[in-house]
Amino acid sequence: MKGMASGVRNGGPKVEFDQQVPYDQYVRATTLHSLQRPVTSDPGEMSFLMISQVMELYFGLIRFELQQIQDRLRADDVWGALAPIRRASLHLDGLNAAWRGLGWMTPVDFQRFREQLGEASGFQSAMYRHLEMLLGLKSATLIRPFKRQRDVYQALTDGLAAPSLWDDVVALLGRRGYAIPQELVDRDFAAEYEPSAEVEAAWVKIYHDDRPDNELRLLGEALTDLVEKYGHWRDQHVTAVRRTMGAKAGSGGSSGLAWLQNRAAQPVFPELWSARTEM
Ligand code: HEM
Repeated sequence: MKGMASGVRNGGPKVEFDQQVPYDQYVRATTLHSLQRPVTSDPGEMSFLMISQVMELYFGLIRFELQQIQDRLRADDVWGALAPIRRASLHLDGLNAAWRGLGWMTPVDFQRFREQLGEASGFQSAMYRHLEMLLGLKSATLIRPFKRQRDVYQALTDGLAAPSLWDDVVALLGRRGYAIPQELVDRDFAAEYEPSAEVEAAWVKIYHDDRPDNELRLLGEALTDLVEKYGHWRDQHVTAVRRTMGAKAGSGGSSGLAWLQNRAAQPVFPELWSARTEM
Protein backbone atom coordinates (compact mmCIF):
# COMPACT_ATOMS: atom_id res chain seq x y z
CA MET A 1 0.00 0.00 0.00
CA LYS A 2 2.76 2.38 -1.03
CA GLY A 3 0.31 4.82 -2.61
CA MET A 4 -1.79 5.08 0.56
CA ALA A 5 1.19 6.42 2.53
CA SER A 6 1.61 9.33 0.10
CA GLY A 7 -2.14 9.90 0.07
CA VAL A 8 -2.54 8.65 -3.57
CA ARG A 9 -4.70 5.58 -4.35
CA ASN A 10 -4.60 3.80 -7.72
CA GLY A 11 -4.70 6.96 -9.78
CA GLY A 12 -7.46 8.46 -7.64
CA PRO A 13 -7.21 11.85 -5.93
CA LYS A 14 -5.16 12.56 -2.85
CA VAL A 15 -7.14 11.87 0.31
CA GLU A 16 -4.69 12.62 3.12
CA PHE A 17 -3.99 16.21 4.17
CA ASP A 18 -2.03 17.59 7.12
CA GLN A 19 -4.30 20.59 7.46
CA GLN A 20 -7.56 22.02 6.13
CA VAL A 21 -8.08 20.82 2.54
CA PRO A 22 -6.64 23.27 -0.03
CA TYR A 23 -10.07 23.56 -1.70
CA ASP A 24 -11.47 25.09 1.46
CA GLN A 25 -8.50 27.42 1.81
CA TYR A 26 -9.14 28.68 -1.71
CA VAL A 27 -12.94 28.59 -2.08
CA ARG A 28 -13.75 29.24 1.62
CA ALA A 29 -16.58 26.76 1.27
CA THR A 30 -16.93 26.25 5.04
CA THR A 31 -17.29 29.99 5.53
CA LEU A 32 -19.75 30.30 2.64
CA HIS A 33 -21.92 27.51 4.04
CA SER A 34 -21.93 29.10 7.48
CA LEU A 35 -23.58 32.26 6.17
CA GLN A 36 -27.15 30.97 5.96
CA ARG A 37 -29.09 32.14 8.99
CA PRO A 38 -32.82 31.87 8.31
CA VAL A 39 -34.99 33.82 10.72
CA THR A 40 -37.94 31.39 10.66
CA SER A 41 -38.36 27.62 10.59
CA ASP A 42 -40.29 27.81 7.31
CA PRO A 43 -38.45 25.57 4.81
CA GLY A 44 -39.19 27.95 1.91
CA GLU A 45 -37.17 30.73 3.52
CA MET A 46 -33.89 28.94 2.78
CA SER A 47 -34.48 29.24 -0.99
CA PHE A 48 -35.26 32.94 -0.61
CA LEU A 49 -32.18 33.57 1.52
CA MET A 50 -29.71 31.54 -0.53
CA ILE A 51 -30.93 32.78 -3.90
CA SER A 52 -30.50 36.32 -2.57
CA GLN A 53 -26.94 35.38 -1.57
CA VAL A 54 -26.22 33.77 -4.94
CA MET A 55 -27.47 36.93 -6.67
CA GLU A 56 -25.34 39.10 -4.37
CA LEU A 57 -22.27 37.10 -5.42
CA TYR A 58 -23.21 37.58 -9.07
CA PHE A 59 -23.65 41.33 -8.52
CA GLY A 60 -20.08 41.39 -7.19
CA LEU A 61 -18.73 39.32 -10.08
CA ILE A 62 -20.48 41.40 -12.74
CA ARG A 63 -19.25 44.60 -11.09
CA PHE A 64 -15.72 43.19 -11.28
CA GLU A 65 -16.11 42.51 -14.99
CA LEU A 66 -17.52 45.99 -15.66
CA GLN A 67 -14.42 47.44 -14.00
CA GLN A 68 -12.24 45.27 -16.26
CA ILE A 69 -14.10 46.65 -19.28
CA GLN A 70 -13.47 50.22 -18.07
CA ASP A 71 -9.81 49.42 -17.60
CA ARG A 72 -9.48 48.20 -21.20
CA LEU A 73 -11.44 51.13 -22.67
CA ARG A 74 -9.31 53.65 -20.78
CA ALA A 75 -6.28 51.95 -22.38
CA ASP A 76 -7.97 52.33 -25.81
CA ASP A 77 -8.00 48.54 -26.10
CA VAL A 78 -11.46 47.90 -27.57
CA TRP A 79 -10.62 44.35 -28.68
CA GLY A 80 -9.39 43.64 -25.14
CA ALA A 81 -12.67 44.96 -23.72
CA LEU A 82 -14.70 42.36 -25.62
CA ALA A 83 -13.52 39.48 -23.40
CA PRO A 84 -14.77 40.94 -20.07
CA ILE A 85 -17.98 42.08 -21.80
CA ARG A 86 -18.57 38.48 -22.88
CA ARG A 87 -17.84 37.21 -19.38
CA ALA A 88 -20.19 39.78 -17.85
CA SER A 89 -22.91 38.79 -20.34
CA LEU A 90 -22.56 35.11 -19.48
CA HIS A 91 -22.61 35.87 -15.74
CA LEU A 92 -25.83 37.80 -16.33
CA ASP A 93 -27.27 34.61 -17.85
CA GLY A 94 -26.31 32.82 -14.63
CA LEU A 95 -27.79 35.58 -12.50
CA ASN A 96 -31.02 35.55 -14.49
CA ALA A 97 -31.34 31.75 -14.29
CA ALA A 98 -31.27 32.05 -10.48
CA TRP A 99 -34.82 33.50 -10.57
CA ARG A 100 -36.11 30.03 -11.46
CA GLY A 101 -35.37 28.88 -7.93
CA LEU A 102 -38.14 31.17 -6.65
CA GLY A 103 -40.75 30.06 -9.18
CA TRP A 104 -42.44 27.84 -6.60
CA MET A 105 -43.34 30.72 -4.29
CA THR A 106 -47.01 31.76 -4.04
CA PRO A 107 -48.02 34.84 -2.02
CA VAL A 108 -49.21 32.43 0.69
CA ASP A 109 -45.78 30.73 0.79
CA PHE A 110 -44.01 34.12 0.93
CA GLN A 111 -46.31 35.40 3.64
CA ARG A 112 -45.20 32.54 5.93
CA PHE A 113 -41.82 34.24 6.50
CA ARG A 114 -42.13 37.72 4.98
CA GLU A 115 -43.11 39.53 8.20
CA GLN A 116 -40.02 38.15 9.92
CA LEU A 117 -37.75 39.87 7.38
CA GLY A 118 -38.75 43.20 8.95
CA GLU A 119 -37.55 46.18 6.93
CA ALA A 120 -34.87 44.18 5.09
CA SER A 121 -35.08 44.64 1.32
CA GLY A 122 -32.85 44.09 -1.70
CA PHE A 123 -33.24 47.86 -2.06
CA GLN A 124 -30.52 48.02 0.61
CA SER A 125 -27.99 46.01 -1.44
CA ALA A 126 -24.81 48.12 -1.62
CA MET A 127 -23.33 45.86 -4.32
CA TYR A 128 -26.39 46.34 -6.50
CA ARG A 129 -25.91 50.11 -6.18
CA HIS A 130 -22.28 49.73 -7.30
CA LEU A 131 -23.49 47.79 -10.30
CA GLU A 132 -26.15 50.35 -11.16
CA MET A 133 -23.71 53.23 -10.86
CA LEU A 134 -21.26 51.51 -13.21
CA LEU A 135 -24.13 51.10 -15.65
CA GLY A 136 -24.69 54.85 -15.46
CA LEU A 137 -27.69 54.97 -13.09
CA LYS A 138 -26.49 57.62 -10.64
CA SER A 139 -28.53 58.73 -7.63
CA ALA A 140 -27.27 60.27 -4.39
CA THR A 141 -30.60 59.40 -2.72
CA LEU A 142 -30.19 55.68 -3.25
CA ILE A 143 -26.89 55.52 -1.35
CA ARG A 144 -28.26 57.37 1.68
CA PRO A 145 -29.39 54.21 3.51
CA PHE A 146 -25.69 53.34 4.03
CA LYS A 147 -24.74 56.58 5.80
CA ARG A 148 -24.22 54.83 9.13
CA GLN A 149 -21.90 52.21 7.59
CA ARG A 150 -18.81 54.33 7.08
CA ASP A 151 -16.69 52.16 4.76
CA VAL A 152 -19.66 51.00 2.68
CA TYR A 153 -20.86 54.59 2.33
CA GLN A 154 -17.41 55.89 1.41
CA ALA A 155 -17.05 53.27 -1.32
CA LEU A 156 -20.50 54.16 -2.69
CA THR A 157 -19.73 57.90 -2.56
CA ASP A 158 -16.52 57.23 -4.52
CA GLY A 159 -18.52 55.15 -7.03
CA LEU A 160 -21.02 57.99 -7.45
CA ALA A 161 -18.26 60.50 -8.25
CA ALA A 162 -16.43 58.16 -10.66
CA PRO A 163 -17.16 57.76 -14.38
CA SER A 164 -19.64 55.03 -15.28
CA LEU A 165 -18.85 52.53 -18.00
CA TRP A 166 -20.95 54.66 -20.35
CA ASP A 167 -18.91 57.76 -19.45
CA ASP A 168 -15.81 55.79 -20.48
CA VAL A 169 -17.44 54.72 -23.74
CA VAL A 170 -18.37 58.33 -24.52
CA ALA A 171 -14.81 59.50 -23.77
CA LEU A 172 -13.47 56.77 -26.08
CA LEU A 173 -15.72 57.95 -28.93
CA GLY A 174 -14.30 61.46 -28.41
CA ARG A 175 -10.74 60.12 -28.63
CA ARG A 176 -11.66 58.25 -31.80
CA GLY A 177 -12.60 61.49 -33.51
CA TYR A 178 -16.38 61.57 -33.09
CA ALA A 179 -17.85 65.01 -32.30
CA ILE A 180 -18.42 64.59 -28.56
CA PRO A 181 -18.90 67.88 -26.65
CA GLN A 182 -16.06 68.50 -24.21
CA GLU A 183 -18.51 69.34 -21.40
CA LEU A 184 -19.84 65.78 -21.67
CA VAL A 185 -16.34 64.34 -21.27
CA ASP A 186 -15.64 66.64 -18.30
CA ARG A 187 -19.09 66.35 -16.76
CA ASP A 188 -19.85 65.97 -13.04
CA PHE A 189 -19.99 62.16 -12.94
CA ALA A 190 -22.10 62.15 -9.77
CA ALA A 191 -24.94 63.89 -11.62
CA GLU A 192 -27.61 61.99 -13.47
CA TYR A 193 -26.52 61.31 -17.08
CA GLU A 194 -28.40 63.32 -19.71
CA PRO A 195 -28.62 61.58 -23.12
CA SER A 196 -26.77 63.49 -25.83
CA ALA A 197 -27.67 64.03 -29.50
CA GLU A 198 -23.96 63.97 -30.42
CA VAL A 199 -23.41 60.57 -28.79
CA GLU A 200 -26.48 59.24 -30.56
CA ALA A 201 -25.19 60.60 -33.91
CA ALA A 202 -21.80 58.95 -33.29
CA TRP A 203 -23.46 55.56 -32.85
CA VAL A 204 -25.52 56.00 -36.02
CA LYS A 205 -22.27 56.65 -37.92
CA ILE A 206 -20.50 53.70 -36.27
CA TYR A 207 -23.29 51.28 -37.14
CA HIS A 208 -23.36 52.45 -40.78
CA ASP A 209 -19.65 51.66 -41.12
CA ASP A 210 -19.84 48.01 -42.15
CA ARG A 211 -16.11 47.27 -42.44
CA PRO A 212 -15.57 43.88 -40.78
CA ASP A 213 -12.85 45.34 -38.53
CA ASN A 214 -15.10 48.11 -37.22
CA GLU A 215 -14.38 47.37 -33.58
CA LEU A 216 -16.67 50.11 -32.29
CA ARG A 217 -19.72 48.46 -33.85
CA LEU A 218 -18.72 45.19 -32.22
CA LEU A 219 -18.36 47.07 -28.95
CA GLY A 220 -21.81 48.60 -29.41
CA GLU A 221 -23.43 45.24 -30.05
CA ALA A 222 -21.60 43.50 -27.18
CA LEU A 223 -22.74 46.27 -24.80
CA THR A 224 -26.28 46.02 -26.18
CA ASP A 225 -26.35 42.29 -25.33
CA LEU A 226 -25.09 43.06 -21.86
CA VAL A 227 -27.68 45.74 -21.14
CA GLU A 228 -30.46 43.63 -22.62
CA LYS A 229 -29.60 40.87 -20.15
CA TYR A 230 -29.47 43.33 -17.28
CA GLY A 231 -32.94 44.42 -18.38
CA HIS A 232 -34.05 40.79 -18.11
CA TRP A 233 -32.96 40.77 -14.45
CA ARG A 234 -35.01 43.90 -13.77
CA ASP A 235 -38.05 42.55 -15.66
CA GLN A 236 -37.90 39.19 -13.92
CA HIS A 237 -37.69 40.94 -10.56
CA VAL A 238 -40.83 42.94 -11.37
CA THR A 239 -42.57 39.72 -12.46
CA ALA A 240 -41.45 37.90 -9.31
CA VAL A 241 -42.85 40.74 -7.19
CA ARG A 242 -46.16 40.77 -9.05
CA ARG A 243 -46.40 37.01 -8.69
CA THR A 244 -45.44 36.67 -5.03
CA MET A 245 -46.86 39.80 -3.40
CA GLY A 246 -49.11 41.53 -5.93
CA ALA A 247 -49.34 45.26 -5.28
CA LYS A 248 -48.59 45.14 -1.53
CA ALA A 249 -46.10 47.73 -0.21
CA GLY A 250 -42.43 46.69 -0.15
CA SER A 251 -40.57 45.72 3.03
CA GLY A 252 -38.10 48.51 2.16
CA GLY A 253 -40.88 51.08 2.47
CA SER A 254 -41.66 51.71 -1.20
CA SER A 255 -45.04 51.25 -2.89
CA GLY A 256 -43.62 47.95 -4.22
CA LEU A 257 -44.60 46.97 -7.76
CA ALA A 258 -45.28 50.48 -9.07
CA TRP A 259 -41.99 51.83 -7.70
CA LEU A 260 -40.03 48.94 -9.20
CA GLN A 261 -41.72 49.24 -12.59
CA ASN A 262 -40.72 52.87 -12.67
CA ARG A 263 -37.10 52.06 -11.82
CA ALA A 264 -36.92 49.22 -14.33
CA ALA A 265 -38.03 51.66 -17.04
CA GLN A 266 -34.93 53.87 -16.58
CA PRO A 267 -32.79 53.32 -19.69
CA VAL A 268 -29.21 52.07 -19.49
CA PHE A 269 -26.75 53.34 -22.17
CA PRO A 270 -29.63 55.43 -23.62
CA GLU A 271 -28.08 56.54 -26.92
CA LEU A 272 -27.22 52.96 -27.83
CA TRP A 273 -30.98 52.40 -28.00
CA SER A 274 -32.26 55.75 -29.28
CA ALA A 275 -29.71 55.67 -32.16
CA ARG A 276 -31.56 52.68 -33.59
CA THR A 277 -34.48 54.90 -34.58
CA GLU A 278 -32.09 56.96 -36.70
CA MET A 279 -30.43 54.06 -38.55
C1 HEM B 1 -40.01 37.15 -4.97
C2 HEM B 1 -39.03 37.66 -4.27
C3 HEM B 1 -38.82 39.13 -4.16
C4 HEM B 1 -39.71 40.12 -3.86
C5 HEM B 1 -41.20 39.95 -3.57
C6 HEM B 1 -39.00 41.37 -3.87
C7 HEM B 1 -39.55 42.61 -3.61
C8 HEM B 1 -38.92 43.81 -3.75
C9 HEM B 1 -39.55 45.10 -3.59
C10 HEM B 1 -41.01 45.35 -3.26
C11 HEM B 1 -38.60 46.05 -3.82
C12 HEM B 1 -38.78 47.58 -3.76
C13 HEM B 1 -38.16 48.16 -2.52
C14 HEM B 1 -38.96 47.85 -1.27
O1 HEM B 1 -39.86 48.63 -0.92
O2 HEM B 1 -38.69 46.81 -0.64
C15 HEM B 1 -37.37 45.36 -4.13
C16 HEM B 1 -36.18 45.97 -4.47
C17 HEM B 1 -35.04 45.29 -4.76
N1 HEM B 1 -34.84 43.92 -4.67
FE1 HEM B 1 -36.26 42.53 -4.48
N2 HEM B 1 -37.70 41.13 -4.19
C18 HEM B 1 -37.55 39.79 -4.35
C19 HEM B 1 -36.38 39.10 -4.62
C20 HEM B 1 -35.15 39.70 -4.72
C21 HEM B 1 -33.92 38.98 -4.82
C22 HEM B 1 -33.75 37.46 -4.81
C23 HEM B 1 -32.94 39.92 -4.92
C24 HEM B 1 -31.49 39.63 -5.03
C25 HEM B 1 -30.61 40.09 -4.19
C26 HEM B 1 -33.56 41.23 -4.90
C27 HEM B 1 -32.92 42.42 -5.00
C28 HEM B 1 -33.54 43.65 -5.02
C29 HEM B 1 -32.88 44.89 -5.37
C30 HEM B 1 -31.44 45.05 -5.81
C31 HEM B 1 -33.81 45.90 -5.23
C32 HEM B 1 -33.62 47.38 -5.55
C33 HEM B 1 -34.08 47.59 -6.99
C34 HEM B 1 -33.93 49.01 -7.49
O3 HEM B 1 -33.45 49.88 -6.78
O4 HEM B 1 -34.33 49.27 -8.65
N3 HEM B 1 -34.92 41.04 -4.77
N4 HEM B 1 -37.60 44.02 -4.09
